[in-house]
Parts: sequence; C-alpha cells; structure tokens
Amino acid sequence: MPRYPLQTPDITTPHPDNDRGFPTPLGDIPREVYQRRRQRLMEQMGSGVAVVFAADTIDSCHRQNLDFYYLTGLAHEAGAALVLAPEHPAWQEQLFLRPLDIEDNRWHGNRPMLGRASELAAGIASVKRTTLLPRAINDALMNSKNRELVYLGPFAGYTSPVPKQLTVLREVAQRVLGCTIRDGHDLLPRMRSIHDRDELALMRRAIEATEAAFTDAMHTVQPDTNEDELLFTFERAIRTRGCRRFAYEPIIGSGPNSCVLHYTANDRIMRAGELVLCDVGAEFQMYAADITRTFPVSGTFTPRQREINDIVHEAWRVAVDMCRPGVTFLELGDAARNVIENAGYCDQYFHGLGHFLGLDVHDAGLMNEPLAPGMVITIEPGIYIADENLGIRLEDDILITDTGCEILSTALPRTSDEIEAFMAKR
Ligand code: GLY
Ligand code: MN
Ligand code: MN
Repeated sequence: MPRYPLQTPDITTPHPDNDRGFPTPLGDIPREVYQRRRQRLMEQMGSGVAVVFAADTIDSCHRQNLDFYYLTGLAHEAGAALVLAPEHPAWQEQLFLRPLDIEDNRWHGNRPMLGRASELAAGIASVKRTTLLPRAINDALMNSKNRELVYLGPFAGYTSPVPKQLTVLREVAQRVLGCTIRDGHDLLPRMRSIHDRDELALMRRAIEATEAAFTDAMHTVQPDTNEDELLFTFERAIRTRGCRRFAYEPIIGSGPNSCVLHYTANDRIMRAGELVLCDVGAEFQMYAADITRTFPVSGTFTPRQREINDIVHEAWRVAVDMCRPGVTFLELGDAARNVIENAGYCDQYFHGLGHFLGLDVHDAGLMNEPLAPGMVITIEPGIYIADENLGIRLEDDILITDTGCEILSTALPRTSDEIEAFMAKR
C-alpha cells in the first residue's frame, strides 16, 4: 500500500484551488522557486537560527508579510512562522502553522490536519503547529555552533512598534544562556530587490493591466464628471485583466488636487481647462505596478501646462537615460533635480525621484547601494505649483538590465504632443 494513498497533492504544479486545504503556493511561481530562495538565504546566513513571521491577520485590508510570502508563496496563512537553521541538514526549514480551531472553521472555512501531504504541498520538510515554535527555536539554537539568532527584519524608527521578529529573538536571548543576535537585516532586501524571470513576468502583467486602465481613462475622461468615475474606469480595467486590487490607494487629483501629493479622496468634479494627475498601479499575484500620468481633462494642454509638462518630461528623460548598473539613486535624483531647479522650480519639487518596486509599491531594497541588473525602480519627477492649481508628475517603472535599462511601462504617452494625440483618439 502506498504510504500516502489519498492526500498526496500534485507537487509539480501549484494549484489555485484553496479547497484542497493544503498550505500551498497559489500563484504562477512554482514552489521550487521558493525552495531555491530559502536555500540561497540560508547560504548567506551561513549559520545560526532565524524566524520569519507571517502577518497576524490577512483580509481585504491586511496583506501577508512580504518576506514570509517571498520565502514561502503562502499568501493566506496568517499567524504562521518559518524557522531557518542552515546548520541542520535534516531540519533546515520548518513551517509552523496556527493551531486548528474548529469554531474558527465554521466562520472562515476548514483548515486541514497536518501530515506529510502538507509538507509536500508547501515544499517544506517539516510543517508543525506554532505551539511547538518556542521549543523548536531552542532546539535549533542548542544544536548550533555559536548559539546565534539572526535578525532578518527591517530596522524600524524609534517611534514605530518594535518588530515582532526582534521582540521574539530578544525574548529567546533572555532565556538561553550564551545566545547572541546577529544583524542580517540587509539579506532579504538584497535578495528581494533583484527580480527573477518569474517575478518579472508577474510585474509585466500588473504593468500591462495598469497601462490598459490608463488608456481607458485617457480615452473616456470628460469635463464635469467626478474623479470617482475615472477611478471606476481604472478599477474595471484592471479587474477585467485579472488584477484583484490596486497595489496602493489610487490618486485621481484634478485641478487643485493635482498638487496634493497623497490626495486619495477622489471625489471632485473635474472641469475643462484643468489637469488631472492619476497615480495608479494594479497588483497582479502580489506584485505591484506604479504609474503616473497627468493629462488635460478636455484633451488639450494650455501653454502654461505644456511648459511645465515639458520640464517634468526632461527631468524624467535625463534620469532614465542614466539608469544602468552601478548608478545610485542619489545620482539619478541629483540629475533630475538639476533640470527642475535650473528651470526655476526648486521649491515646487519636494519628494524623492523614485523607489524600488516589487511585492510592495515601495519595495524592499538598499537605496544607498548601486543599482544592479534585475532591479525594478520607479522614476517619478514632478512639479507642483499650488498657486496655479497645476501639479504634474510623470512616473514609469524601469528594469535595470546588464547593459542599461528597459522601460517596462512603454504603452502610454509622455510628452505634451504625445498626450494630446493619444487623447484625440477617443
Ligand atoms: N504611488 C506611490 C508612489 O508613487 O510612490
Ligand atoms: Mn512611485
Ligand atoms: Mn506612484
């Protein structure tokens, strides 16, 4: 009789069917990719014991912890923990899931019993309950050479809550003599900021859906309609292309709202002669797009709007032309800022030039290190003249390649002439 006759899942193909009840990666990235990521992380740890926690709550407002997701592909396992201990060939990786609660099952659906099948499904050698987590961390520590705990989380500002991972490691260190905590905060950002082929495929899907949504919005915008109607156009377009949600709260800012950097009320009537600044990104299988275009509500720029759009476009162009391995964010930012300052708008540009993009819209990465192939960044200069109700930002998503860069968001117009011609097609 086979050892696992009924429950053994097909481990070669991730399956989007949650009814199977296994903790299994649900997206297009195969579980072998997650296994390789964990192996690579453990090679870089070298020794010691690390624990990465899932989010405590996952619902429409709370996403999975992105380090945990990056290492497991488990988008829906709240309250779980992953323990990595590279020195133990047999127990290098252990996944701990929340205890079963039969009352909770009636509210949120059945969760499975543990067994060999869940280990196979998750691609992790050992799957247990979190009630065993404290003992497992101690066991791994006691069998390690130096009794080292490795902190893999980000450093938080002193006004932020202490990260759970650091709290737990400190609690362990108080109880296990001779135990120290090693700083590994840069390991995951360094890995996460270099995207592999599978990740780039998902990011391209998010970007294509976002471009299609901008196309619909630029072809349907009308004076005397509400910003919210434009938002609905964006949402319908991304959802019909398989994106379940936005990667961040969209900004649809017309007239005076184009100058409010984090405007998200999106409920003003747009008037002829005004600009509308749209900063929107779809999320596809946890990966983000992040695009901004600013266009005239009636399809035609005024001479003044055109003048400012040309300066922002020039700042964008100068920065994108410099994108290649070895360049730093600082150098890109200085180059774009010079264009805007030389045009006389020093005080009207007051944010950074860009950021890493990936699982998060402001994704993990080491901003002070030179750019490297596989990184995806945004370039997003802007000028905001509140006295004139005139705010313009231009934002695209850029892949750093071996020899330079590839603009991933290519389908949308940027110059004033291109934007007017594009909108004239409606
Ligand atoms: N949408 C957020 C940003 O552009 O950074
Ligand atoms: Mn951005
Ligand atoms: Mn943006």
